[in-house]
Amino acid sequence: MDEILAVLRAAGEATRLRILALLRSGELTVGEIVSVLDQSQPRVSRHLKLLCEAGLLDRFREGTLIFYRLSEQNSAKKHHQAILGWLDNFDSIVQSDQSKLATIRRSRFEAAQAYFTDNAAKWDEIRSLYVPEQQVEQALLDCLEERYFSNILDIGTGTARMLELFAPQCDQGLGLDVSLEMLGHARSHLLEKNLDHCTVRRGDMYDLPIEDESQDLVLFHQVLHFADDPALAIKESCRVLRPNAQMLIADFAPHDEEFLRDEHAHRRLGFADDEIINIAAMSGLNASGITHLTGGRLDVTIWQFCANSA
Ligand SMILES: C[S@@+](CC[C@H](N)C(=O)[O-])C[C@H]1O[C@@H](n2cnc3c(N)ncnc32)[C@H](O)[C@@H]1O
Repeated sequence: MDEILAVLRAAGEATRLRILALLRSGELTVGEIVSVLDQSQPRVSRHLKLLCEAGLLDRFREGTLIFYRLSEQNSAKKHHQAILGWLDNFDSIVQSDQSKLATIRRSRFEAAQAYFTDNAAKWDEIRSLYVPEQQVEQALLDCLEERYFSNILDIGTGTARMLELFAPQCDQGLGLDVSLEMLGHARSHLLEKNLDHCTVRRGDMYDLPIEDESQDLVLFHQVLHFADDPALAIKESCRVLRPNAQMLIADFAPHDEEFLRDEHAHRRLGFADDEIINIAAMSGLNASGITHLTGGRLDVTIWQFCANSA
């Protein structure tokens, strides 16, 4: 009873209920929540603190930004479902908050798109600035131990370098990207390398234009740190994995190079093992390996997963 009363007290206030409703659509920074609610930061921070204390939200700091998300604890999920289940999605305040959030996300998406448009031509040069690329690529190949796949899906394919790397190990490779400029470079790249069995097309990681349970291997190479909602992207990618299929995620380990946010459109400053493994587990993936690659300006981690059997 004590727990329920604490939860109801925390959620039983208009601003806090709005915050819970907003966080249904993924993690947000304090600044974003403040912009949607149009209230002062100290006031919003007080509400956030109360929601955290009641176990309804998780808070994490990354560089100069503080993020909040709905807590992943099982007991908290039960409370979110109950409380948010009472909320009318057509309520005018809920709708207005959602539309303000959509505007904020759209402008961030457009800024990231502009970045990729401007940098598509020099992407291969940029990617090598941060990471010991050859080391990462060798480690990715090692994870799969020369296994052969009927198809491979590379999400956020960029210039299709990952398709080129895994081309000898598949019958068919498909790369998806939201940036038309990147896709243009990817197509030239595949043509130049005579990789006829690899193609690219437009596709969003949150809504893959791909059938359920159709892919043998899914790759996310240096993509998730751009994601507003990495958990949703991983969940969507799990939908398309065949039983026992593999997934490889390569991304930065946690770091504090804040300039990557300002100058290179990064949303997240790397990922801790726990975070990726927990997100993947919620989508039904089993971790089968972790490789930490150190020695570059930024460290890279490769997380390897296997989908459940049928
Ligand atoms: C850092 S690049 C990595 C490209 C490639 N995986 C590589 O390793 O070279 C990130 C790519 O993710 C793409 N991207 C960003 N948001 C995306 C989304 N929502 N859906 C699909 N691709 C996305 C960008 O357009 C960009 O090409």
